[in-house]
Amino acid sequence: MGIETSCDETAAAVVKDGKKIFSNVVLTQIPYHRKFGGIVPEIASRKHLEAINSVIEEASFRSGIEMQHIDRFAVTVGPGLAGSLIVGIVAARTLGKIFKKTVIGVNHILAHLSVNFLFHEAGPPYIGLVASGGHCDLIHSKSHNEFELLSRTRDDAPGETFDKIAKMLKLPYPGGAEVEKIARDGDPDSFVFPTPKFKDGSNDFSFSGIKTFVKNQIAKTPDNRIPDLLASFQKSVAGIFADKIEDASKEKNCLRVLLAGGVMANGYIVSFLEEECARHSLQPFCAAPEFCTDNACMVAVRGYFQEESLPLTPRPDLTI
Ligand code: KG4
Ligand code: ZN
Repeated sequence: MGIETSCDETAAAVVKDGKKIFSNVVLTQIPYHRKFGGIVPEIASRKHLEAINSVIEEASFRSGIEMQHIDRFAVTVGPGLAGSLIVGIVAARTLGKIFKKTVIGVNHILAHLSVNFLFHEAGPPYIGLVASGGHCDLIHSKSHNEFELLSRTRDDAPGETFDKIAKMLKLPYPGGAEVEKIARDGDPDSFVFPTPKFKDGSNDFSFSGIKTFVKNQIAKTPDNRIPDLLASFQKSVAGIFADKIEDASKEKNCLRVLLAGGVMANGYIVSFLEEECARHSLQPFCAAPEFCTDNACMVAVRGYFQEESLPLTPRPDLTI
């Protein structure tokens, strides 16, 4: 059983052998945070606490597997909100004690990548890109237990950029899907975006320049051209992803590419990356949108492949 409470989804899932989904329960808190335009940590932890027991019971019920027959509990220990992580961790530790089963603490970012193994024969070695509301991590994995962080964002995460741009346009939180909807009517080639570059030659990601560019353009763009602006913004984000993936695959001599995280729920971005990967003879893999955003199947799969548990305490700033 996977248990996920790192952000604003309370989730539990039962997965067999890292491959077959028996149940997948995701209770989102989005309606409670929407009126504040973003996640309020105190509300998040309180809502997780209210929901965790019934979400776990529901996951067991829907799977048809009673709790005592679950082999192992996997839980996200970080990165995420401390007060939210602790709710999932305490629940998992308690279940482990009651049913005398192993509890394995996993990294949320690696869990995002692992969801791909449910749907594809896409095991390591691979280059993985996790693009979500809190992260942008490019990773090289040589085995299920060997990871190298190749680059990450220096400022905003890509999902955060979508959310902030949505806010500028007074669209509801979270903004990713809202921006994508409007961008569908736009021409992605109508605005030329700046390319983020660092003076020190670092290959980190950066999205704050793009966000500022959009902000400045919104001020002087008529409403009927907002779809063009948003379509061009999506193309610029997709282009940054594609360049980094291509560089990493060359450097590591690795053709397999795993795409993960909430931003990969974006149909335009995934199609763009699929085309770019095809042009460079790379093999991209991505899950359906509902498995790109936070869920507990990904935690269960990571828990299946991971050899050793991370310490079962909240690790808000956990990296690879
Ligand atoms: O992976 P996720 O559910 O949570 C984190 O671990 O952060 O990602 C949530 C992020 C939000 O910023 C949301 O706006 C973004 O993913 N997102 C999208 C789309 N759907 C969700 N971004 C772009 N296009 C989408 N369709
Ligand atoms: Zn996530």
